[in-house]
Amino acid sequence: MSKFKGIVKYLSDYFYSLFSNDIGIDLGTATTLVYVKGEGVVLCEPSVVAIERGTSHVLAVGEEAKRMLGRTPGNIVAIRPMRDGVITDFEITEAMLRHFIRKVKHRRFQVRPRIVIAIPSGITEVERRAVKESAERAGAREVYLIEEPVAAAIGVGLPINEPLGNMIIDVGGGTTEIAVISLAGIVFSKSIRIGGDEMNEAVIEYLKKTYNLMIGERTAEDIKIKIGSAYPLEEEMSMEVKGRDLVAGLPKAVTVTSEEIREALQEPLRAILEITKISLERTPPELAADLIEHGIVMAGGGALLRGLDKLISEETGLPVHVADDPLTAVANGTGKVLNEMHYLKKVTVPIKSETHT
Ligand SMILES: Nc1ncnc2c1ncn2[C@@H]1O[C@H](COP(=O)(O)OP(=O)(O)OP(=O)(O)O)[C@@H](O)[C@H]1O
Ligand SMILES: [Mg+2]
Repeated sequence: MSKFKGIVKYLSDYFYSLFSNDIGIDLGTATTLVYVKGEGVVLCEPSVVAIERGTSHVLAVGEEAKRMLGRTPGNIVAIRPMRDGVITDFEITEAMLRHFIRKVKHRRFQVRPRIVIAIPSGITEVERRAVKESAERAGAREVYLIEEPVAAAIGVGLPINEPLGNMIIDVGGGTTEIAVISLAGIVFSKSIRIGGDEMNEAVIEYLKKTYNLMIGERTAEDIKIKIGSAYPLEEEMSMEVKGRDLVAGLPKAVTVTSEEIREALQEPLRAILEITKISLERTPPELAADLIEHGIVMAGGGALLRGLDKLISEETGLPVHVADDPLTAVANGTGKVLNEMHYLKKVTVPIKSETHT
């Protein structure tokens, strides 16, 4: 009987694989990416939803909603429903997921897809179940969850199936996640709610304190990307920043240097260094020995901050490599999981079903 079931399952999987476009999703706090099997990453949009104030009526999602951030009239609010690596609003997260899935599902045959979703490793069982159910309601045939650092490690091509220590640091928008992976499993992982968003906040605070200049989140991110750094630069830079004078209340422009911005970023940078060191201390000795040779791999948008690899390397004494395309590492990892079935059972996290336990 079970053999018969096995054959039926095999045939139906085969049938579905002919007509469905399985999907991998990197549900990030800053950016959501969608990978469609056979096509690659087809969508990359900010994890932002604009709703009508006081209701849950969704007006815009993604790119369109991000443009409204900080510029919304009184009756519209732009929300980042997963801001600090936790789902702060389930309903809105679901609306966002549904929107993105629909957007890519229109591409081809209309058979319900299998979906692999990368989630922050710190989220609770309740949140995991909510993500799974949201994806099911959004039209998934089967949903698999994978922890972000595992997906990132697979995405950058680390040999995670080997009995070797692999360390990955994923500096995202809301969280920084560190994991040591060996034999396709997480040996140790740690997640802190500090990432690119905190860096933006630090820039805002610095300009407020030093120049009485009030700037918005998007300007802060712009400054960080244009002249931000974690390690002294060969050629330091500067840029003009426009905002509002806190005292006079009028628009004002000041020139800031990369040295100042590095100073401003000290707190979040120290926090990232600290968990890196803690993770290394907790890594079993045999695996730690592997890291001396293979080093640490960095992924996530925050890995693009100038000199962050150098800073971590100097402080740990280990080689540090930034992934070729740090922003798509997790999404590419979900894609590889879809393409290589042996990963699917091995690396996805089981979710206890509420009704069956
Ligand atoms: N060149 C750059 N220099 C510094 N920071 C950058 C750069 N490019 C992007 N970032 C930052 O990377 C962050 C987004 O990274 P990413 O898309 O990996 O996050 P996420 O996956 O959405 O978040 P999380 O993994 O926490 O859920 C943002 O804070 C953004 O400002
Ligand atoms: Mg991420």
